[in-house]
Amino acid sequence: MNAPDGFSSERAGGIWLIVAPLLKEEVEGQLDAFEDLVRAAREAKSRAYAPYSRFQVGSAVVMDGTIFTGANVENASYGATLCAERNAISAAVAAGHRRLEIVAVSTSAPSGTAIDQRSPCGICRQVISEFAGPGSLVLLDAGDTEDGRIQGEVIAFESLLPWRFRLG
Ligand code: THU
Repeated sequence: MNAPDGFSSERAGGIWLIVAPLLKEEVEGQLDAFEDLVRAAREAKSRAYAPYSRFQVGSAVVMDGTIFTGANVENASYGATLCAERNAISAAVAAGHRRLEIVAVSTSAPSGTAIDQRSPCGICRQVISEFAGPGSLVLLDAGDTEDGRIQGEVIAFESLLPWRFRLG
């Protein structure tokens, strides 16, 4: 798997890391939890409603230590479509949570698909930024390895949306 320009790519456990070097130590002890989250995102994806694009997306977020999931829900009026990440975050926020620790995303893109076809859209990045802190992480499911292990990228959210907009 190739890292996008400006990122380092290192393997840790079954998961590919495409992160700043400092983050590596921080994430290494959490790989099992990451795999559980990706599994939760995959399960949520199985409930996606995507008859128009046929692109299923599932998301699992950890907010204040609790996991919430969501899937994309499309609409005949295309602009009314809701993305998986925003549905997961909205469920968590409506349950009273505000601190977003991790966002995992799984799509129906096959293994080996380029990262820019599997990562959160701009609107979702802005919504993530509303609840994200400096240590918030994004996990992108990249499918299974040939020996059946989950692989994906672990990315600091800050690097997905630098200079994000904040009001006042
Ligand atoms: N989609 C998501 O659920 N999350 C994203 O971050 C990108 C796009 C959905 C919206 C639509 O249902 C389908 O993927 C194709 O764009």
